[in-house]
Amino acid sequence: MQKVVTSCILFFLLNAPLFAQISPRYKDKNAPVEERIDNLLALMTLEEKVLQMNQWAYGHNANPNNIESIMREVRPEIGSLIFRSTNPEYRNQIQKKAMEESRLGIPIICGFDVIHGYRTVFPIPLAQACSWNTDLVKQSCSVAAKEAWLSGIDWTFSPMLDVARDARWGRVAEGYGEDPYANATFAIAAVHGYQGDTLANKYTIAACLKHYLGYSLSEGGRDYHYSDVSNQTLWETFMPPFEAGIKAGAATVMSGFNDIAGVPASANHFTLTEVLKNRWGHDGFVVSDWGSVKNLIDQGVAKDLKESGLKAFMAGVEMDMVDNVYVDHLPSLVAEGKVPMSSIDEAVRRILRIKFRLGLFENPYVDVVAEEKRYLQKEDLQLAEQLAAESMVLLKNEKETLPLKSSFKNLAIIGPMVKDSVHIMGSWEGQGRPQDVETLWAGLNKEFKGKAKLHYAQGCDYDGEDTTGFAAALAAAYQSDAVIVFLGEKRNWSGENGSRSTIALPHIQEQLVAALRKTGKPLILMLSSGRPLELIRLNKLADAMVELWQPGTCGGSAAAGILSGRINPSGKLAITFPQTTGQIPIYYNMRQSARPYSGHYQDIPRDPLYWFGHGLSYTTYSYGPVHLSSTTISKAQRIIAEVEVTNTGTRAGKETVLWFIADPVANISRPMKELKFFEKKTINAGEKTIYRFEIDPIRDLSYVDSNGTRHLETGDYFVLVNDQKVKFELIE
Ligand code: BGC
Repeated sequence: MQKVVTSCILFFLLNAPLFAQISPRYKDKNAPVEERIDNLLALMTLEEKVLQMNQWAYGHNANPNNIESIMREVRPEIGSLIFRSTNPEYRNQIQKKAMEESRLGIPIICGFDVIHGYRTVFPIPLAQACSWNTDLVKQSCSVAAKEAWLSGIDWTFSPMLDVARDARWGRVAEGYGEDPYANATFAIAAVHGYQGDTLANKYTIAACLKHYLGYSLSEGGRDYHYSDVSNQTLWETFMPPFEAGIKAGAATVMSGFNDIAGVPASANHFTLTEVLKNRWGHDGFVVSDWGSVKNLIDQGVAKDLKESGLKAFMAGVEMDMVDNVYVDHLPSLVAEGKVPMSSIDEAVRRILRIKFRLGLFENPYVDVVAEEKRYLQKEDLQLAEQLAAESMVLLKNEKETLPLKSSFKNLAIIGPMVKDSVHIMGSWEGQGRPQDVETLWAGLNKEFKGKAKLHYAQGCDYDGEDTTGFAAALAAAYQSDAVIVFLGEKRNWSGENGSRSTIALPHIQEQLVAALRKTGKPLILMLSSGRPLELIRLNKLADAMVELWQPGTCGGSAAAGILSGRINPSGKLAITFPQTTGQIPIYYNMRQSARPYSGHYQDIPRDPLYWFGHGLSYTTYSYGPVHLSSTTISKAQRIIAEVEVTNTGTRAGKETVLWFIADPVANISRPMKELKFFEKKTINAGEKTIYRFEIDPIRDLSYVDSNGTRHLETGDYFVLVNDQKVKFELIE
């Protein structure tokens, strides 16, 4: 017996290296993740490590042979792919190659821009913010994650958290508007929606907060430009949404294209390492934006590719999106002693950590289900319609022009957007297809079937000078009881590289409206855009205006429902509409001027046309007085602010209460007011409900200085709701 035991022990000892090779610790799903990474790092060569830090784009191509040949070129050791195909089988084939043909079998992480939906396209993020409905936003991200996961995606480059400052910059469409708190709140909703309870679950994908940092201040709204931004502004305006997203568990971050006051975002050690990693404790990884490592040369901080790689890597960018700079240059930078091996290991550790959290080592493949079960499910389309409806903002409604009266039996439906199924998806439409989109025309036909006759005329194109369609538009208008004009922007007029020198609609569209005004019929403008518009002239011509944004797959029925009154609009602007383009920058949380009552532009009113928070309803609300549980508060206490809101109209509505705080005197001047909390509730006709905001001094009354240190000063503060402003005092 003893002999048998001894020979068994001997056998195991002699073959230990073989066993270790057969089943190394990183493959043990029960071992702690960090130990699995230690083990894997110890087994990897430098070349394998550097390949993990590399991302390629895998082209969208309908020809299967071609796709396969591209697939053959994908190195099985590659860290990540931007996967533009919708075919889960291709994804699984590529993954199989990584799992079976690479020495260590490390799975690839497949990313894609799932920005506002994948195949079911939801409204653009700017619109979503106007819904003030964080639950709907979270659910839309879960649906997007599910559709994307079933198509082979593990990772989305979303949400975008660049606080809007200049509507000429086309990418305001992709973010949640002009307020840091709103951006932070929707960031949390989006991260939870994409990532679910745990990344290891099916149908969840990793989020990526972008574009870190200060990108929306690109000078003059020109994309990719310099951002002249102070540390004070970075800390109080641009960082809070990212910090909130990190605290919500976002797996990854993308470094921006912009140059932050002389140090580009993709070479910025302060933002990427000191703040993001050291201060906020982010333990996932940073991916550069497309080409932003190479761009360091164009920006004048690197003389060649090798130096751009060195700068980006040492600043804290772990993955190189499509540039191949890391693969080509990091090995020699290590050999020359310019990049420590320990830094390479730390970077690869972060990438592997996310792959382990996603469960990719255990479950590298996605389920392959039939397309009709993958996309556009009934309940997902209903969600898309609801979010579109809640995002739309009734800007103006003179003499209750809307909803349309049921006595109107003839409606003129005019404008370049009426039959469009492309532009209303907005930019970054994911894998959205025009044939899935319910056009406004289709939505109206369904809505008014048997109730009113629709008279269509295009009137004019989006731009150009051709007025020959005006006559038909006028004819349609003359035979109708009301004139509804669908105007707007093409989808590539906003989004990336979609900057415009003016935010007015092209003159031809305004001319069409001016011509239709002469008919004397009730005139309703339905506007679709990826940014706030200059409406100073159109506002005077229209009786009613609705901002539809770019509402996505189900926008047509949502817009039709608002016209008919089936849907009571509840959106409120998450971004200010200036009077004119020249009034930019203008946002509600500006700082006080030295002379608050003068200094504004002489040729236009002082205020913008529509402030942040503006949005009408088909019902009316009356706000009772704001009540505070105490008018003094000590630093360790909390007080409750309450306001009772009554629906004084005749139909149910959803009212969002926005709670602001103003700190009139501080050592570092504060914005005129700052949003601190919001809540949306349904109130039935004739009923009332109480909205509550618990004021926490450290969270709601303190501010950060230019080093990110928080200060809480005693003295007077105000809580603001609607047109009320109530004072309270903070004591020691
Ligand atoms: C954009 C990013 C996007 C990336 C990948 C870049 O050009 O700036 O927002 O995620 O491309 O498609």
